[in-house]
Amino acid sequence: MSRVFSGIKPSGSVHLGNLLGALRNWVALQDEADTVYCVVDLHALTVPQDPEELRASTLSLAQMLIAVGLDPERCTLFVQSHIHEHSEGAWLMECTAAFGELRRMTQFKDKVEQADFISGGLFTYPALQAADILLYDTDQVPVGEDQRQHIELTRDIAERFNARYGETFVVPEAVVPPAGARVMDLQAPENKMSKSEDSPRGSISLLDEPAAIEKKLKRAVTDSDGEVRWDPAAKPGVSNLLSILGAATGRKPDEAAAGIERYGDLKAATAEAVVELLRPIQARYHELAADPAETARLLAVGADKASEVASATLDRARRNIGLLGR
Ligand code: TYM
Repeated sequence: MSRVFSGIKPSGSVHLGNLLGALRNWVALQDEADTVYCVVDLHALTVPQDPEELRASTLSLAQMLIAVGLDPERCTLFVQSHIHEHSEGAWLMECTAAFGELRRMTQFKDKVEQADFISGGLFTYPALQAADILLYDTDQVPVGEDQRQHIELTRDIAERFNARYGETFVVPEAVVPPAGARVMDLQAPENKMSKSEDSPRGSISLLDEPAAIEKKLKRAVTDSDGEVRWDPAAKPGVSNLLSILGAATGRKPDEAAAGIERYGDLKAATAEAVVELLRPIQARYHELAADPAETARLLAVGADKASEVASATLDRARRNIGLLGR
């Protein structure tokens, strides 16, 4: 059975891009693979955090993952910082990645332009991500398009480590969905959708009320040529709505355009599809949020399962790289 691993950061609310680009694949893969999913709280530390908020968003993100359909009985669901092998593995990865490779990461370059405090961790972040993936002998990594470059780097690190120190890590592959891999901001469709705190009107949170979803989609930026057609380069706003509608209704974006003539109708159809998609997720989330002790228990079970695999892989890596055992 193939092994699947992926992670999501507990920073801000989970948005529609996370769901369509990654989480829906996470859920689907539970039926066909040995799946390991992680709330990557250490990754959130690359920018300063409010401690209480970080703790709360880590728990609430785990609840949201279960609400979208992860079943802790069928997958391994855990919190990254509960498994110390991630931090230790990250050091081995940092020493295997080249400075120039890390410097070329587009996410780092983008963040450096926006951030007023640039931590060392922001720079080495992809090495921690590589450790996350490689510790679980991962074959497939379901992610949105924006993470492809980090997975490529993970592959390069794994191959370099194996070439230097002997066969140690499985070389993983990215799995990106055919529709929804890059959901764009509703107000600035040349940017990817990101947290609603950064772009309140351009991002749909999985916890947005139906009225808020309808309003955001009604106000989504389109263009002036009036034709409902899938053409991301020439018509980024309309194409984004078609991608969302397609992904929410299980069709390709160009197929989603069939029978829709006016932008108003496209926006209404998209809003209806998104509201229906989120309705059961929100109901389940609110149930789970009422019982945080149960979520904590499930995460502890997940950490026990994750620890077995991660410690065996890290032992192998420690031995192969030449660290003295005790
Ligand atoms: P994060 O937390 O930013 O996003 C989680 C997942 O959501 C996808 N995603 C999107 N997909 C489509 N459209 C969008 N607008 C959009 N925005 C986000 C992301 O591609 C991702 O799959 N570095 C990672 C977390 C991570 C990780 C890992 C992922 C840490 N270790 C190991 C895979 C494997 C991140 O910041 O994702």
